[in-house]
Amino acid sequence: MTAKIFSFLLPLFLVTHWAHAQDIVAHRGASHMAPENTLAAFHLAWKEGADAIEGDFRLTKDGHIVCVHDEDFKRTANLPRRVQTLTLAEVQKLDAGSWKGPQFKGELVPTLDDVLAIVPKDKRLFLEIKCGPEIIPALKKSALKPDQVVFICFSKDVIAQCRQHFPDFKAHWLTSYTEDILGRVEPSSKDVFKTLAETKSSGLDINANTDRVTAEVVKQLREGGYEFHCWTVDDVATAKHFRQLGVDSITTNRPGWLRTQLTEKG
Ligand code: G3P
Ligand code: CA
Repeated sequence: MTAKIFSFLLPLFLVTHWAHAQDIVAHRGASHMAPENTLAAFHLAWKEGADAIEGDFRLTKDGHIVCVHDEDFKRTANLPRRVQTLTLAEVQKLDAGSWKGPQFKGELVPTLDDVLAIVPKDKRLFLEIKCGPEIIPALKKSALKPDQVVFICFSKDVIAQCRQHFPDFKAHWLTSYTEDILGRVEPSSKDVFKTLAETKSSGLDINANTDRVTAEVVKQLREGGYEFHCWTVDDVATAKHFRQLGVDSITTNRPGWLRTQLTEKG
C-alpha cells in the first residue's frame, strides 16, 4: 500500500518540483512586446506570470536612480545625451515608448522607486547596476527590501560594495564567456570562482552559453554555496539545457511564452 501511494505521489512531486524549480525573470520587463525598462514592460511581465523582473539602473546628474540600459537615450528616447548629464526633471520629459511602437507613445523613464512600487509582495526585482559604486548612497535612500531585491552587476567592485553596504541582500556577479580568435575562453573557471570568493557574491548570473556552462561548473557552484542564474534565453532548447543543469532562474525577454513552452512541452 505504502509503495502504491509512493509511486503515485513521486511523479506528482517531480512535476510540481520542475514546474516551480526555476524562476522566470523578465529581462528589462516583457521587453519582447513592450518598450524595455518601462512600467509598461514591467506590468506586462507580471501579467504574463513572471516570477521576477530585471531592470537596468543608472544615476542622473542630480543623483536620482532611473531605469535605462544604455549610457545615453539615443536608442530608446531619441536623445543622444548621457544619463549622467541630465537631471531627473529632464529625463522625465522623454518619451521612452515610441521607439517600440506608437501605442507606447508617452511611456516615461521610471525611477527606481516607481519600479519598486509595482513589485508584488511575492515577486522580485533583479536590480542591475549599470554605473559604478557612486550609486550606493542613492540606493540607501530607496525602499529596498531584502526578500524582493537582488543586486546584479558586471563590476566586481560594485558587487563587493553591495555585499558590504547591504549585508542582508543577495548580490550576484554577472559575467559572460567570450572567445577570442584563438579560441581562448574568458573568464576561466578559476577566475570565476576567485571573483565570487573575493567579492563575497551570493551567486553567479551568466550568459546562457550551452558549451561553456557545464555540469562541472554547476557542481562547483553548488559546492561553494552559490546561486546559479542565466540570461538571456528566448529559445526552448537553451532553456531546457539550463533547466536540466538546475539553474535557479532563467532571464528572458518573453516570460509568458517561455513558461508556456516549458510547461506544456515538458
Ligand atoms: O540579466 C543580465 C543581463 O541583463 C545583462 O545584460 O546587456 O541585457 O544588461 P544586458
Ligand atoms: Ca540588464
